[in-house]
Amino acid sequence: MSKPKRASDTPYAVDVESGRSYLWCACGQSKNQPFCDGSHKDTEFTPVKYEATESTKVLFCGCKGTASQPLCDGSHKQI
Ligand code: FES
Repeated sequence: MSKPKRASDTPYAVDVESGRSYLWCACGQSKNQPFCDGSHKDTEFTPVKYEATESTKVLFCGCKGTASQPLCDGSHKQI
């Protein structure tokens, strides 16, 4: 499996809304980070769905190396 493109060196802080779903970009190619814009079409990656259970701020992974997709796990500090 190839590696996703590193979209950012830091996570994306996003205010999510309870009951809404979000599609996190796993390939790193999206121009609308951290969300999928369909750019993964010719890659082996597919977006990861995040369903907000409360309205709050979450940190979506930007380096695309997180082990707990789609959220930041601190991996951007190591790779
Ligand atoms: Fe990256 Fe869809 S654009 S997963």
